[in-house]
Amino acid sequence: MEKRIPLIIDTDPGVDDAFCLLLANSSDRVEIRAITAVAGNVSLHYTLENARRLAGMMGLTETRVAAGAEKPLIVPQETAEMAHGKNGMGGLELPETDKEVDPLPAWDVIYEECKKAGGEMQVAAVGPLTNIAIALLKYPELKGLIKHLTIMGGAQTAGNHSPYGEFNIWADPHAAEIVFQAGIPMTMIDLDACHMSYLTDEEYDAFVGMRNRYSECFFDFMAKRDGERRKRMAGTPYAGKYGPCDAVTIAALLDEDLFTYECLPVSVETHGPCMGRTVVDYRNRAGKTPNCRVVKSADRQKFVDLFYKMAEVYAK
Ligand code: RIB
Repeated sequence: MEKRIPLIIDTDPGVDDAFCLLLANSSDRVEIRAITAVAGNVSLHYTLENARRLAGMMGLTETRVAAGAEKPLIVPQETAEMAHGKNGMGGLELPETDKEVDPLPAWDVIYEECKKAGGEMQVAAVGPLTNIAIALLKYPELKGLIKHLTIMGGAQTAGNHSPYGEFNIWADPHAAEIVFQAGIPMTMIDLDACHMSYLTDEEYDAFVGMRNRYSECFFDFMAKRDGERRKRMAGTPYAGKYGPCDAVTIAALLDEDLFTYECLPVSVETHGPCMGRTVVDYRNRAGKTPNCRVVKSADRQKFVDLFYKMAEVYAK
């Protein structure tokens, strides 16, 4: 069997973050060395508690869970309770656990684990990039220790938190710009990518029907909650499509052929009316070095297959 990829997931659980963690854990391609929590969807209090409980629920005894940044580097904090509920899980109470939080902060855990992995570590960052930026600022040599960084963030076309701002980038644009310009090999799974890779309502219902050890404590609740989304999306271009962004991001890491990419120069607007915009220079008019893989097309069935495989792996 192929050697598992050592993986750190930096996250702000977050409903779709939870799908991301469950999908990652269902794969024999990765070994989750650390889950680092950052404030984003909700406050760090809840993102950390959700990360701890999800790690406990999945029995990740060897995985370090660490607390990261409580707020963005510079801009005032804005969270996304309207999308994830006050506790970040849409009101679902995850099972209690005795899983402990690491005594070190996220940035130190990221550095330690990347050093231990000897340059083989991959990082999936599915929340604001504050922890990653702080880790890079504190440990400049870290950029040579991350084999590949896959982020959920950005938008090639329309944003979801402002006209051009996708939430993760918009929530901490300065951290995002530090990360994009750090020179780490990276992939941006942006909103446009998430709209190419989704489950249809029928596929999602079929997935929920595949009973597994997390049906009662997680998937059934999220399926009921999805009813509200379906009503909201009726009549829009997103109707009948469920692409939890963070799960799409980890799917891209698990299956290299889910998307096709082009490596392009990408930068982040850190102020003004387009703050939080990821600026993709398709024709390299600024003459900058391409620094990020940007999604061009998707094989959607590969995303569906990963969800069905997850149900199979977790089947009772
Ligand atoms: O814009 C989508 C992103 O914002 C996802 O990571 C979701 O969890 C929210 O944080």
